[in-house]
Amino acid sequence: MPQENLPANIMPFYLYLETYGCQMNVLDSEMVVASLRSRDYQLVDDPLAADAILINTCSIREHAEEKVYSVLGKLRRLKQEHPEKVIGVLGCMAQKDQQRIFERAPSVDLIVGPGQLSQTGVLIDRVRNGEGRQMALSLGRRDGPAESIRRSHETFDPLRDPQMRPTPFQAYLRIQIGCDKFCTYCVVPMTRGPEQGRSPAEILAEARVLADQGCREITLLGQTVNSYRYREGDRTTTLADLLALIHEIEGIERLKFVTNYPKDMTVPLLQTVRDLPKCARYLHVPLQSGSNRILQRMKRGYTVEEYREMMHRIVEWLPDAAVSSDFIVGFSGETDQDFEGSVQMIQECRFKNSFIFKYSQRPGTKAAQLLPDDVPDQVKRLRNQRLLALQDAISQEDNQQFVGRDVEVLVEGPSKAAEKSGVEGPVLQLTGRTPCDRIVVFDGTRRLVGQLVHVAIDDGTTHTLIGHVVTGQVGPELFTLDPAAETIVRT
Ligand code: SAH
Ligand code: SF4
Ligand code: F3S
Repeated sequence: MPQENLPANIMPFYLYLETYGCQMNVLDSEMVVASLRSRDYQLVDDPLAADAILINTCSIREHAEEKVYSVLGKLRRLKQEHPEKVIGVLGCMAQKDQQRIFERAPSVDLIVGPGQLSQTGVLIDRVRNGEGRQMALSLGRRDGPAESIRRSHETFDPLRDPQMRPTPFQAYLRIQIGCDKFCTYCVVPMTRGPEQGRSPAEILAEARVLADQGCREITLLGQTVNSYRYREGDRTTTLADLLALIHEIEGIERLKFVTNYPKDMTVPLLQTVRDLPKCARYLHVPLQSGSNRILQRMKRGYTVEEYREMMHRIVEWLPDAAVSSDFIVGFSGETDQDFEGSVQMIQECRFKNSFIFKYSQRPGTKAAQLLPDDVPDQVKRLRNQRLLALQDAISQEDNQQFVGRDVEVLVEGPSKAAEKSGVEGPVLQLTGRTPCDRIVVFDGTRRLVGQLVHVAIDDGTTHTLIGHVVTGQVGPELFTLDPAAETIVRT
């Protein structure tokens, strides 16, 4: 625990960090922990044991923010009893709500936007040195010259901490920050600032660091990852070029990229994915709505027909790919007829899965300024349930088609059920994913974690394939081959 009167930077210091939101935030948290560890901070998993409690937040829907304010409310008592503890709000909510957070949650000492996270350590020190509340934010989208705004949204990605990742052999790698699409409902262009591609040299160097750390699967991140462009002189690097470059790195076995923007799903990109065996056969390309009128109000920049053409391109070039989507139900002005368009597109596109969200009006967005939030919550809820039920039925039907097939699985670790049961035998239920991103559970030993194994699928539920390891690939201690039966026998 910290001792009085010593300079902050040499005290042993315990850190607790809770993360909300998307993959970008998961990655940001990894970076924050890596940079604080380099200042001798130690990570703990109990906020009560921590000297600094940081919450990395999300503003995408009101519900996400309410959860954080509720957590901050609970921390108020703790702060009263232990005023020396530093409480910090990081991430998108910090950038969006700024000092309003101090007003609504008086126990907060520190507010750091996603573009200023490299400041976190210095700012914690300042709070501990009695310099009062600290805040580091990026410039708003109209708060200065374009270059200054861009520079105020910086990443500090080269710091990687494998211990912070759920599995050390899987990692996110940011290739793009920010977003310039300005969908009318969305806060991200405000919280994450202008779209900026990172340089291919930096991205490649980081991919090599990850491979050296034993990472086998890299997921490239960007809000519209397939719009990635990086210009150096007269050369432009695209996502397809990056995939080809990272594909060469020894040790990396799988490459994914999220999230895709429908209009930029080009044939050259699809051909690249087809030609590079390490690229996952999986594309997350949110449609958001199956009604042209709503897509226009959302300012998504494409029509249902164009999305359909994109699906045809995917089927033509990558017939074995799984496509997943996001939908917003109950957006401003959405009629029953508009909603039926979304129902129809789920039926037609047969997505592997869809994330379905009730529209949540966000202060500061174009929709909040110009479009009434006029669909009653009850209607949003019913539409949400209906799309979910339809998507679940499709997911289950498609998963059933895998029964009897062998799939290659990157083993991630014990399944949720195995972790919950807490039983530690030599054989436990493991989970992993296929190249088309389907979740598979099967029995095996811990030694398989991080490996690519072949699994024969016996059953398929809505969200999971259930199978067994194909004979002959596992060590002799725990499995032996019964050649007559062609099955695995547990010893
Ligand atoms: N950049 C990604 C999505 C980022 S946000 C893309 O453009 O696809 C993740 C998802 O949250 C979005 O795809 C959208 O479906 C949903 N979302 C964003 N803003 C929302 C809002 N105001 N209300 C409800 N859902 C929202
Ligand atoms: Fe938000 Fe649209 Fe940008 Fe995605 S593309 S982050 S939904 S503004
Ligand atoms: Fe949320 Fe920010 Fe991600 S608003 S979804 S954490 S980019």
